[in-house]
Amino acid sequence: MAEFAVQSEGRSEGIVIKDDWPGYSLDLFSYPAHYSGDLDCVIIPHGVIMDRTERLARNIMDDLGNHAIVVLCVLKGGYQFCADLVDRIKDLSHNSNRTIPMTVHFIRLKSYLNDESTEDLHILGGEDLSLLAGKNVLVVEGIVGTGKTMKTLLKHVEAFGPKMIKVAGLLVKRVPHSSACVPDYVGFEIPNRFVVGYALDYNEYFRDLSHICVISDTGKMKYKI
Ligand code: HPA
Ligand code: MG
Repeated sequence: MAEFAVQSEGRSEGIVIKDDWPGYSLDLFSYPAHYSGDLDCVIIPHGVIMDRTERLARNIMDDLGNHAIVVLCVLKGGYQFCADLVDRIKDLSHNSNRTIPMTVHFIRLKSYLNDESTEDLHILGGEDLSLLAGKNVLVVEGIVGTGKTMKTLLKHVEAFGPKMIKVAGLLVKRVPHSSACVPDYVGFEIPNRFVVGYALDYNEYFRDLSHICVISDTGKMKYKI
């Protein structure tokens, strides 16, 4: 019984990274030399992201693995997590002889300038989402901050009449005014700091960094627009 209780707790909020967690020193890891001085610390090393993603894939398979899944990847920040998550789901479905048809689609959103969320969320074209009608949809997002973006996105997706929508978010930020829009599958709950790497950007920089790191003030200044 206890085991199940722990498991379901882990499902709701993911791995909780506390506010006083200083992160790992950058000297302990490899990262692109062009970002030296631009980062404060490594908050989640790449290997830990991969291990957690494998477990999320299993939870998703346990819940959705009996039907076809339509994956909707939220670009650009969600591309790496989505690619790795889909790979792990594929591995699991091959190894368990329970292959499930999966298609992958993309939607592109933009709401951040520098490290601030702007008021206007742009849904930048992409595919015709009428293909979502009647399907089990898994929305895959890199980071959920205030939840405002996710709320708007879900409203947009619901309009296409999917049978079910589940959301997988690699990171959920603990922000003061979050709009109770928490993903069904959460990788990590993190402090309210601006993070980059593993496809998460600051003005398009740092997507080519494999660890999730906290950007430094120098980094913010250097790439500010
Ligand atoms: N980093 C990158 N993109 C984001 C963040 C963040 O911390 N929060 C919301 N979008
Ligand atoms: Mg961004």
